[in-house]
Amino acid sequence: MTTTDPATEVDLLRFPPDFLWGAATAAFQIEGATTEDGRGPSIWDTFAARPGAVLGGDTGDPACDHYRRYASDVELVAGLGLGAYRFSVAWPRVQPTGAGRVEPRGLDFYDRLVDELLGRGVRPVATLYHWDLPQALEDAGGWRSRDTSYRFADYAAFVHERLADRVQLWTTLNEPWCSAFLGYADGVHAPGVVDPKGALEAAHHLLLGHGLAVEAMRAQAPADHRLSIVLNFCSVTPDSDPEAARRVDGLQNRLFLDPLAGRGYPEDVLADTAWLGDWSAVVREGDLDVIAAPIDWMGVNYYSPTRVALSDDPAFVPGGPHPGLRGVEFLPARGEVTGFGWEVDASSFTALLERLGRDVDVPLVVTENGSAFPDEVVDGEVDDVERTRYLVDHLRAVHRAVQAGVDVRGYFAWSLLDNFEWAAGYSQRFGIVHVDYATQVRTVKRSGRTLARVVGANAVPA
Ligand code: NOJ
Repeated sequence: MTTTDPATEVDLLRFPPDFLWGAATAAFQIEGATTEDGRGPSIWDTFAARPGAVLGGDTGDPACDHYRRYASDVELVAGLGLGAYRFSVAWPRVQPTGAGRVEPRGLDFYDRLVDELLGRGVRPVATLYHWDLPQALEDAGGWRSRDTSYRFADYAAFVHERLADRVQLWTTLNEPWCSAFLGYADGVHAPGVVDPKGALEAAHHLLLGHGLAVEAMRAQAPADHRLSIVLNFCSVTPDSDPEAARRVDGLQNRLFLDPLAGRGYPEDVLADTAWLGDWSAVVREGDLDVIAAPIDWMGVNYYSPTRVALSDDPAFVPGGPHPGLRGVEFLPARGEVTGFGWEVDASSFTALLERLGRDVDVPLVVTENGSAFPDEVVDGEVDDVERTRYLVDHLRAVHRAVQAGVDVRGYFAWSLLDNFEWAAGYSQRFGIVHVDYATQVRTVKRSGRTLARVVGANAVPA
């Protein structure tokens, strides 16, 4: 719906009533305190300690020191008027070795965080796995091992049980494509393993773990609980070669969407990835039914469009742009790019949401969207004009999809805070709030104030 603001005479694009507005973070990227209160090591602690793995030798400490500063960070969320906050639970903080003994001090932290959020009228949205696998599980095979799926379901069940009286919105996995293919095929993410066949095993075991976790949580969940998974979809530009587009869409989107929807793994993707190994040796009878356990919503993470062509070079290149794919070339970004070099194109976002509106039969929530730019604090202000423009343009893109009839229920900015950007360390800032890592001072950026105005009006200027 479009209306005119009588005060400013600006046309406003209104979002549906009850649209959920929030910001997102992940445990390893903000918490710090990696050895505090009995937390066990995760694969990201180990990976970051490996020389050359993370830019500048950056590690998860102190990050944003959120483990100690969570209460003032929640105050920031509430101060921006956000109705929701998406955070992740660090598995090694609540179960240091990923099996057996639960660490009460770790669980207490998430208890306090949730209480703080609720006390300030902010809805918690909990992600159970945002990439920080307990190192002990990796030592036993990690996601290449089927046992990890069962360990994940056990962990999901006890965290869910503990917070079930206060948290209704849950996500099992964040971006399993990244965990499988960046982690095990080309090794640019933890655990930093180059074993293409392992990526295939990991992809299946992640999905199996998701399904087992949903089953376990559903069995104990009150009726108002809403369970989900978050995927990082690619949105292939229309000028891409159609065959290259089919392959990349297959590996990154349909490989996950189809089994989740009960359609099993897509035949063409299994054929494209046959060089990785034999899927039939990994998938056991009954697994596909488990993976298809009904979910209530799907999380969509979107940053940038994907532009591809066919390439003559069929070789797998570790560290290449799309591990798991052969014969596909990723074309350079065109036009405006972010500080990370990622192409800015809001129309691809609308196209993706419209496509998901057709292919996914549960409501969608934008669980991450944002941009990195090298911000500076000048006279106590961060005037992040480019991020603000990116934000407004992408909100208009979401609005267009809603107008076209797509059931999008919410939008979470990535990220609340500047934070540890995985292999890029602290070099890329995605926050709507600036963090000075030396002093831990937070400064709300112009983009943060803009989001607050959008939330207040439940509308974005046309
Ligand atoms: C997606 C991931 O979920 C998040 O952890 C990461 O920081 C952003 N993309 C930006 O790269």
